[in-house]
Amino acid sequence: MDKIETYLDENRQRNEDDLFELLRMASVSTDSQFQAEVERAGQWVAEQFIDLGFITEVVETKGHPIIYAQTPPVEGAPVVLVYGHYDVQPPDPLEEWVTPPFEPTVRDGNVYARGATDDKGQMLTHIKSAQAWMETEGSLPIQIKYVIEGEEECGSSNLDPFLQQYKDHLQADIAVISDTSQFAKGQPAITYGLKGIVYFEVFLEGPKQDLHSGTFGGAVSNPINALTQMLGKLVDGNGRIQIPEFYDDVIDLEQREREQFASLPFAESEFKSKLGIQEVFGECGYTTLERRWARPTCDINGIWGGYQGEGAKTVLPARAGAKFSCRLVPDQNPDKVRDGVQQMLEELLPAGLKMEVIHHHGAPGVVVALDSPYMSAAAEAIGKGFGTKPVFIREGGSIPVVTAFRELLGIDTLLLGWGLDDDNTHSPNEKFSLDDYYRGTRASAYLWHEISKIKRD
Ligand code: BES
Ligand code: ZN
Repeated sequence: MDKIETYLDENRQRNEDDLFELLRMASVSTDSQFQAEVERAGQWVAEQFIDLGFITEVVETKGHPIIYAQTPPVEGAPVVLVYGHYDVQPPDPLEEWVTPPFEPTVRDGNVYARGATDDKGQMLTHIKSAQAWMETEGSLPIQIKYVIEGEEECGSSNLDPFLQQYKDHLQADIAVISDTSQFAKGQPAITYGLKGIVYFEVFLEGPKQDLHSGTFGGAVSNPINALTQMLGKLVDGNGRIQIPEFYDDVIDLEQREREQFASLPFAESEFKSKLGIQEVFGECGYTTLERRWARPTCDINGIWGGYQGEGAKTVLPARAGAKFSCRLVPDQNPDKVRDGVQQMLEELLPAGLKMEVIHHHGAPGVVVALDSPYMSAAAEAIGKGFGTKPVFIREGGSIPVVTAFRELLGIDTLLLGWGLDDDNTHSPNEKFSLDDYYRGTRASAYLWHEISKIKRD
């Protein structure tokens, strides 16, 4: 591995330049205004693979293309499936960015740009590590199949059909995704659990138009009053979710896991001050890490209705709406939770109002096996790439493709996150540490080596 280490040292600047080139592309997948930029970013990723001589396909979908690439098979060695995404979240609110979101800028060793950590920077480490192998050894010690999609940030609606269609091509022994975080700066981690999600949008409609709240108030159901009362019943004051049968299938934390979480160097005071909060809040009887990583939650994501302008307006609004979502843990079933929410809302709906509920995406939570040779290989590779052994953590975010890989291909995923919790993903001033970009690439290069030692059964 010495040659590869030297190569990565010598090519640090070039690898950064390449990342910056990708970051300059405004590949916002949810907004059709950015269509051409999304295509350009996908094409750029495809060219990386083509330049390395890998079999590459730009797979057209109903939405943005999926880039599929494949390195040559290696007899007797495992096959790894790498997943990542080249699309990004919208950069809004633009005025809160210190430097423009698509002009990557370095400050304090971090590159600031939309997509820096989620997921362009992290994803690219697995391409740059393959490049290091190709340009030093001339080949890779294992076969890698890459699926880099362009719609992760807007629901991945065309990914499942692609996975179905390419099922035979995608056969692998293990999947690798870098789209999570380290435990803390200087403390890399392997994530072995992710939450699932169910997402709702609810609309209430009352009178046919806005009314005078003095003339009609108290005699006509107010959609905002009703909506806030209904949503207020989802979670009680102790952080317990009140949706019928919600906790029935929740797998409780084992004592062993609680002890392991508690052994991690987590300082609640630092957590609070970083977030600017006086006190933490959550389900009674659980620590902050337990709540964040292993307990289901319910959050209202947006709410609208009524007068929002300057001054006071005495109005009884005609309609109101909200978006809310539950994060799920194993073994909760997203369909069952969705039905429970629907039933609860119907029961709580006051007379005189019409309701429409839209169900967006759903995905179950997932926990992957810790006692696999691939986990050990990943821990070893991270130890070498970062100079520090990883800790094992869970996360509160969701990556639905992990379940898809398990169900469709029968394989687990190694979630090797190079980001940090304060990287501002999905918010202004997103960043990624350039040291972590370099260390992540090194860890990835070691990962191919460590996995190549595993004998397939
Ligand atoms: N990289 C995140 C997932 C993530 C977030 C993992 C935080 C660990 C910690 C991913 O890009 C993402 O944002 N996922 C969405 C999924 C949803 C839209 C189905 C999420 O978690 O909200
Ligand atoms: Zn994301």
